[in-house]
Amino acid sequence: MKIKGIKARKILNSKGELTIEIEVDGFRASIGNGTSVGKFEVVALPPDLDKLVELVNHKLNKELGGLSINSFDDLDKIERAIKTIDASSNFKEIGGNILVNLELALLKAASENNVWKFLDPKVKKMPIPIGNIVGGGKHSGANCPDIQEFLIIPKTKDIFEAVFVNAKFHELIKDDIIKRDKNFNFGRNIEGAWCPNLNNYEVLDMLNKFRERIEKEFKVKVSLGIDLAASGLWNGRKYQYRNYSRFRQKRVLSREDQIGFVKKLIANYDLKYVEDPLQEEDIEGFKELKGDCMIVGDDLIATNLDRIRLAQEAINGVIIKPNQIGSLLKAKAVVDFAKSKKMKIIVSHRSGETEDNVLAHLAVGWEADYIKTGIVGGERTSKLNELLRISENL
Ligand code: PGA
Ligand code: ZN
Repeated sequence: MKIKGIKARKILNSKGELTIEIEVDGFRASIGNGTSVGKFEVVALPPDLDKLVELVNHKLNKELGGLSINSFDDLDKIERAIKTIDASSNFKEIGGNILVNLELALLKAASENNVWKFLDPKVKKMPIPIGNIVGGGKHSGANCPDIQEFLIIPKTKDIFEAVFVNAKFHELIKDDIIKRDKNFNFGRNIEGAWCPNLNNYEVLDMLNKFRERIEKEFKVKVSLGIDLAASGLWNGRKYQYRNYSRFRQKRVLSREDQIGFVKKLIANYDLKYVEDPLQEEDIEGFKELKGDCMIVGDDLIATNLDRIRLAQEAINGVIIKPNQIGSLLKAKAVVDFAKSKKMKIIVSHRSGETEDNVLAHLAVGWEADYIKTGIVGGERTSKLNELLRISENL
C-alpha cells in the first residue's frame, strides 16, 4: 500500500482531554494516554497540539507521502523519517502517541482494518481479558482504596465466556458494595471500575467472597489480582497510604514493610497477578516477590527493551503499552524478548482511552496471553466487542 495522505486532528479522550488522532488514506487511529505515567515513559504528547497538527499535516504528509508499507517491518521507513524530525530519546518534540497512531493508521490502511491478520495470519489463541472491578489510587477519589486496580482473571480459554463473566462480576457485585458502603452512589472511576468508600482489605474480602458466588453460578474459576501502581504511593523514601487499614488509617510503609505487605496479600487472598507492587526503580525488590504469583512490570519496564533486559530476573509478566515507548517496532521487540524468556504478555489500555478498538488487534496479532482493557464504558467495550468479532475468524 502506498501512502496517499496523512492527516492529524484534535479529538477527545474518555477523560475529556484533548488528544490527537491520525488518519492515513481514510483509516483513523488514536491510542490512549496514561494518568499514572511512569518516569521511564517517553513524552506522550507535547503541550502545543496545534503545532503538532500542523507538523503532521504539512511536514510529515509531505515527507512520508508515496512511501509503501507492505509488511510490519516496513514501519522502519517511517521510524527513520521521524528521527529526522525528532531525534530526542524521549520524543519530546513529536510525542510517542503521534508515531504510534501514525503506525496504527498505516497498518489499518495496509490491511483494510484487519490489523491482527496483517501482524500474524496464523495466530491460534485469543488473549484473555483481565477485568478491573474496583479502583483506587490515582484513578479514583480520596476516600477510595490506595490500590489502583482490583482485578479479576477468568480461567477459561473461551473468549465469549471470559468477557461475559467479567461483565457479570462487575454488574452483580454492585449490591454487595451497597451493603458495605452506605454512601455508595454507583461511582465509577476513569477506567469504569467501581470506586467505593472502602479500604484495601474491605475490597479484597468482598471480592474473595463474591468470586465464589460467580464461580458457582457461571461455572468458571476466577482468580484475583491487583495493580498497586506503587510509584504513585512512593514519596522518594517511603510508601504512603491514605486508607490502609480496617480503620481507614493513614500509614507509611518502608520498602521492607511494603514487600511484607504485598507478600501477605498474595498469601491471604491467593492473588495470582500483582502488577507494579514496588516503585519503578526497585528491580531488586521485585525479585524478592517472584514466586507462584505472576509479578508484572508496568512502570518498571515502560515497554522498553533496555528496561526488560535489566529486569528479566525480576518479573514473570510484562505490560505492553505502545505509547510508553512511542514505537510499534520497539513494543514488538519487547514482546519478542519477553516471549523468549517465557514471560506472560499483557497488552494494556491506558486510563484515558478513545473508542478506537485497534488495541484488540495488537493483542491478538502479537498472541498476547492477556489483554487489560476494563469492563464497562464505550471506550473499554469497543475493544472487548472487537475481540468477539475477531474470534469468529480463529
Ligand atoms: P495509566 O494506568 O493508563 O493511568 O498509566 C494504567 C495502569 O497503571 O496500568
Ligand atoms: Zn499498571
